Amino acid sequence: MTAATQDFIVNRTDLTQARWVRGPAPTEVALDQGQVLVEIEKFAFTANNITYAVAGDMLNYWAFFPAEAGWGRIPVWGYATVVRSRCDEIAEGGRLYGYFPMSSHLVMQPESVTPGSFLDLYQQRRELHPVYNTYSRLQSGSAAPSVLDDLRPLLSPLYTTSFLIDDWLADNDFFGATQALLLSASSKTGFGLAFALSQRRSQGPAVLGLTSPGNIAFVESLGCYDSVLAYDSIATLDASRSTLVVDFAGDGDVLASVHRHFGDGLVESTQVGLSHWDAPRPPADLPGAKPHLFFAPDQARKRMQEWGREGFDTRLGESWRAFAARAADWISIEHGTGPDAISKVYSETLAGHINPAVGNMLSP
Ligand SMILES: NC(=O)c1ccc[n+]([C@@H]2O[C@H](COP(=O)([O-])OP(=O)(O)OC[C@H]3O[C@@H](n4cnc5c(N)ncnc54)[C@H](OP(=O)(O)O)[C@@H]3O)[C@@H](O)[C@H]2O)c1
Repeated sequence: MTAATQDFIVNRTDLTQARWVRGPAPTEVALDQGQVLVEIEKFAFTANNITYAVAGDMLNYWAFFPAEAGWGRIPVWGYATVVRSRCDEIAEGGRLYGYFPMSSHLVMQPESVTPGSFLDLYQQRRELHPVYNTYSRLQSGSAAPSVLDDLRPLLSPLYTTSFLIDDWLADNDFFGATQALLLSASSKTGFGLAFALSQRRSQGPAVLGLTSPGNIAFVESLGCYDSVLAYDSIATLDASRSTLVVDFAGDGDVLASVHRHFGDGLVESTQVGLSHWDAPRPPADLPGAKPHLFFAPDQARKRMQEWGREGFDTRLGESWRAFAARAADWISIEHGTGPDAISKVYSETLAGHINPAVGNMLSP
């Protein structure tokens, strides 16, 4: 075990301010009966985690792992190991997958324990959505091959959203669009959607990706967009085609250009992300379909009712495995260890210095 527990905290009103704070030694952390202490092994970090911080107050992301007043701990997806246990059903040494803070350790309170999972109902986390409170218990000795072990936290939470958007668009006959425009085409969630749409080729719309000039070559190399353009090329698109836009960038100027170019021919405008989190928000009263937020849990709930939980998991699992097999060639994983490496990746991602071909896996 490390000498002291450590938390990476960010200033909720100025995300450029971030620092590490030290807590007690892991052996000194107070545990009530029924609780466990886990040591966080590694987690993925992408623009999505920055969005958790940007939207922390609005969407309640700060509630998961509280910090001192005015500061917050950003949630991340990753792995941890149980290092102390006062829970009869959870042994020390067990490996977990789920939603953790950017910290070295976390106190958890497992409830509804099964051989494969439990719910963490520690204090305020009792009130939060089970999607984020459910932890997988991994069988020891059956660790996935290392690439998949890293791809799971890096891509699978994002791909679940990509899968649900693709399914929701198809469920609505693509709103009659013959082309789909994806903004922030190099983002993992964006190219996850492009991959899912590309599997429909003959029935689905053409898939066009808009990205930064420096990311065009990477997006083209993926082979799942029909064409790839820079953000300043919107005026060259065929405005006579009925078009839908899915926005992972959140750049109001870009979105406004899309709406003005297509006018009433823009039949659907779906807001998913804020990868360009510091860009201006879109003006009100844009021509074409009114922009609205995509809420993934709504489509998941609908499909679970229609397909059953097992049917939903089977379809998502098949789609995820097909995507992961391709994405393993698209993304090279970079591992960073220690507080300085984590601080650096945080600052660079916040500043938009992101190489889309790299996936960051970080260990405290
Ligand atoms: N609502 C949901 O349920 C949900 C679920 C998953 C993801 N999302 C959102 O989707 C977005 C993408 O997340 P991700 O983790 O997939 O992203 P990512 O893979 O880390 O993508 C990063 C991309 O963002 C763009 N970018 C970031 N900062 C920039 C800046 N300052 N200036 C210019 N471009 C910048 C670049 O793409 P381009 O050059 O192509 O623009 C970059 O390749 C996030 O906002 C995330 O929260 C939402």
